[in-house]
Amino acid sequence: MPPAMTIAAIIVAAGKGERAGGACPKQFANLAGRPMVTHSISAFAAHPRISQIILVVGAGQEAMAKDAVGHLPVDAIVIGGAERQDSVRAGLMAAKEAQFVLIHDAARPFLSAQVINRLITALETEAAAVPVLPVVDTLARGTDALGPVVDRSGLMRIQTPQAFCRTILEKAHEAWGAGPATDDAQMVRALGTQVAQVAGDKMLEKITLPEDFAEAEARLAARLVTRTGMGFDVHRLADGEELWLGGIQIDHSQGLAGHSDADVALHALTDALLGALGDGDIGTHFPPSDPQWRGARSDQFVRHAAQLIRTAGGQIDHVDVTLICEAPKIGPHRPAMRTAIADMLGISERCVSVKATTTERLGFTGRGEGIAAQAIATIRMPVE
Ligand code: CTP
Ligand code: MG
Repeated sequence: MPPAMTIAAIIVAAGKGERAGGACPKQFANLAGRPMVTHSISAFAAHPRISQIILVVGAGQEAMAKDAVGHLPVDAIVIGGAERQDSVRAGLMAAKEAQFVLIHDAARPFLSAQVINRLITALETEAAAVPVLPVVDTLARGTDALGPVVDRSGLMRIQTPQAFCRTILEKAHEAWGAGPATDDAQMVRALGTQVAQVAGDKMLEKITLPEDFAEAEARLAARLVTRTGMGFDVHRLADGEELWLGGIQIDHSQGLAGHSDADVALHALTDALLGALGDGDIGTHFPPSDPQWRGARSDQFVRHAAQLIRTAGGQIDHVDVTLICEAPKIGPHRPAMRTAIADMLGISERCVSVKATTTERLGFTGRGEGIAAQAIATIRMPVE
């Protein structure tokens, strides 16, 4: 068998996003519930053939970038330059181990595994490949007044990611002397190297102007289906234990006993998220037999489940948690729990509900022997 191809993904996110406007550069602006750049990171992270992810950001954007990346698996964050090609070059410097590179605009957030597959397949026989779409509109020269029509037959639109043998792209960058270039394939072609075409994707259209945000969200919504998951958990109340509920510590005469911090609300929530994803339950991901989870904070279980959803290209729309106990009274703690859970999930507090009920002193919760929790998670996932 031939040795496996090593393929680095370089995401260029060092632009200023001047045409898009807004409070921060477009690649860090919120799109479908999270910073735009994270969509591309997740797409590469979820692809088994990508061995390295390099993110290129502008000088002064480091904090914004780190904040956006969070726990996503980015191997290096490097600083780009004044022009797009300077940013690509900075990314290439960090990709010296890779035989192949996929150069991708952060401004094209909705990258499918199918497009990555098509490019990687092309790289098995070609030195360079790009996704293309036909031009379907009438084209004319002119700015204020319409000038002559440009024949659109034989024209095509070129997208990213663009796939290259790394050393060829490096050579092309070294040899390029023609000023700012909007993509890398034109530099490779200037060397006389053939660039193969694969089918592009409308979802990959670049977000450039303010109105492109709403259009991209609408396109994405059409590609996602809603899924619901539920979770249920019970822990025993015991003397001498801390009480953790909904991600916060509560002062109470007793606490919940269990292998981790026994936060019954977060355990039910984790199961609801995993249920919506269709990926086992908390026990399969964090076996109670594993000593590393002894006394562990349960927020990491929730964060992990949320991350699995995001990595698969999904988003969390809403969660609803119900605590079932006589004491403590949950009402006074509800705002803090909502804040904590919203932070774990990376969503707005408006999308987090925490409720509580008693069982009229009936059953084990009524007798104060334990606390039960139920949770429902509503998520949206890409259509298979
Ligand atoms: N880019 C980059 N470094 C630059 C310029 C652009 O990494 N010096 C990146 C952008 O962040 C974007 C991609 O290249 O992901 C395509 O560029 P474009 O859509 O032009 O983005 P901006 O340059 O940020 O936008 P504008 O031209 O409107 O300022
Ligand atoms: Mg630009």
